[in-house]
Amino acid sequence: LVDLLTLQKQFILMHLGEGDVAVDYTMGNGYDTEFLSKTVGPEGKVYAFDIQELALKNTAAHLKESGCSDNYRLIHASHHRAAEFVKEPVKAGMFNLGYMPGSGHKEVTTMRETTLPAVETAISLLGKDAILLIAVYPGHPEGEAEGLALQEYLSTLSRFKMTVAKFQMLNSPTSPYFMIVETK
Ligand SMILES: C[S@@+](CC[C@H](N)C(=O)[O-])C[C@H]1O[C@@H](n2cnc3c(N)ncnc32)[C@H](O)[C@@H]1O
Repeated sequence: LVDLLTLQKQFILMHLGEGDVAVDYTMGNGYDTEFLSKTVGPEGKVYAFDIQELALKNTAAHLKESGCSDNYRLIHASHHRAAEFVKEPVKAGMFNLGYMPGSGHKEVTTMRETTLPAVETAISLLGKDAILLIAVYPGHPEGEAEGLALQEYLSTLSRFKMTVAKFQMLNSPTSPYFMIVETK
């Protein structure tokens, strides 16, 4: 069976390797940050963003426990401000939209007003042969609207510069799906 999380990692690994720069735009509990940190290794660099203090606390603990190299910077700021912190070309970026699992703060979810500018910035930060992956949770109303707004925007990107694609279970439309932007 197709497992979307495994598939997401496979796409990232087609672009990201040791020594590269990666960004986790939605840190949460740090599972994606861990994956990126281990993939780029001690010579690489990972920037991770979240607006919740709890995310930084949980992620810092998780990265220590899971034996990651000291190659990450956890930033307490909204992801639409990424260009203020990330100055080098990015090889892989990840957005895992929605609210933080297990936090009890379902109201702190990603919102179109900041997600769209953040995705635009994330695309502008990509280097050559790089990838941006955006996972959407259409099971809640803001998630569904966020996904549709993103699709509208991503559809306008030049196919001569980027590949833009979407992976979704056709027989389970409320399940999470993801989109990728790959630069040439
Ligand atoms: C689905 S969770 C991410 C899960 C995470 N990748 C993990 O592995 O645990 C989404 C996260 O986005 C964060 N978030 C919401 N709005 C944000 C914003 N404007 N900038 C950065 N993070 C934001 C939430 O606080 C939440 O922790």
